[in-house]
Amino acid sequence: MAERVESGIAELEVQEDVVDPWNVVSKSATGIDYDKLITKFGSTKIDDELIKRMEKATGKPVHHLLRRGVFFSMRDMHEILTLYEQKQPFFLYTGRGPSSEAMHLGHLIPFIFTKWLQDTFDVPLVIQMTDDEKFLWKDMTIEEANRLAHENTKDIIALGFDVEKTFIFSDVEYIGSCPEFYMNMCRIQKLVTFSQAKAIFGFAPCDSIGKIAFPAIQAAPSFSSSFPMIFNGKVDVPCLIPCAIDQDPYFRMTRDVAPRMGCLKPALIHSTFFPALQGAQSKMSASDPTSSIFLTDTDEEIENKIKRYAYSGGGATIEEHKQKGGNCDTDVSYQYLTFFLEDDEKLTTIEQEYSNGTLTTGKLKEELITVLQRLVGEHRRNRKLVTDEMVKKFMTPRKLNFQY
Ligand code: TYM
Repeated sequence: MAERVESGIAELEVQEDVVDPWNVVSKSATGIDYDKLITKFGSTKIDDELIKRMEKATGKPVHHLLRRGVFFSMRDMHEILTLYEQKQPFFLYTGRGPSSEAMHLGHLIPFIFTKWLQDTFDVPLVIQMTDDEKFLWKDMTIEEANRLAHENTKDIIALGFDVEKTFIFSDVEYIGSCPEFYMNMCRIQKLVTFSQAKAIFGFAPCDSIGKIAFPAIQAAPSFSSSFPMIFNGKVDVPCLIPCAIDQDPYFRMTRDVAPRMGCLKPALIHSTFFPALQGAQSKMSASDPTSSIFLTDTDEEIENKIKRYAYSGGGATIEEHKQKGGNCDTDVSYQYLTFFLEDDEKLTTIEQEYSNGTLTTGKLKEELITVLQRLVGEHRRNRKLVTDEMVKKFMTPRKLNFQY
């Protein structure tokens, strides 16, 4: 078995890939073996059939993150498409654990994709800010975690979510005001034993009882009955959860308890991890600032981090690079472009030229720096436009603009 590690870039000895909500570490320079992970977690690989069905149902090409296999795994997506084809409602649920002042590029992935899902399927969305989780896990006061929930909410709003269709909530603020949410938490807590929680999450005897009870809090938003004001009291609106696959353990537990509560199992769509600057052996993580590019980084910081830290799959010398070419499977700059460079043709050209050695690591990094400076710069401008009133509106429990 792999050694358990605390969020880590690794000097550690890892025998097999470790993926859970707190650790993502692989032994291989090309990163996690996602096919193996699908088998281990019991999810389903996204195939061409699903993508074609989605394009047919929506009349739109799918998002490049889906086309390029960044979203690669799912549970019950066909059921969601059947609902959509029958003009039946569903809702989206995703979240963020506010552990740092700013979110990093990896956190953007599920949110960018969620926005695309909301725009494409025209459905309501709930976003859980787990300030309680970060208080329980990190060395942080609950007041600070709550403050960070508000700061991170600004980043999320800046991505352009529709205020009429989106409810963002802090656990600390919402749970006490909504008996139905708390009742669902209690129902879930009653159905999961300590030994089940230990098997799913790896809890140890020294873990606080707060941590052990927490998974029920992340599970509860999967049920429309937790949001009576949004869904007009309707308790059977199905839920789809976009997230990276590290969050799946929470929802395996949720899917297990749902039928026993008389509720529907949430569907899921999972992404791979946006790698750390140092390489695909670990994910970009806010706990290690040198692994990450934050949405608050300046143009200069972005340039310095890429030049200094982004792991290169290029040859050791220019001559060797020209002769043997670079390795796109391990090169972090190329990997980042697959997430953020939308132009397919340009990406293919870069891949070919880097692999055959005509494009140097320096030029590849320059390409990435331009793409990221543009992306983060636009985000910076949009975030400045987010006012306290807008945050308040998104975070006020209310009826969303949708018919049930
Ligand atoms: P958090 O804050 O760790 O991460 C927020 C979202 O970003 C995903 N993520 C990543 N995706 C790609 N590459 C990365 N390097 C990367 N790092 C993080 C996470 O999978 C997540 O989707 N407990 C959760 C908060 C939460 C939540 C949810 C997440 C509450 N309810 C429902 C998803 C769905 C957390 O701490 O996420």
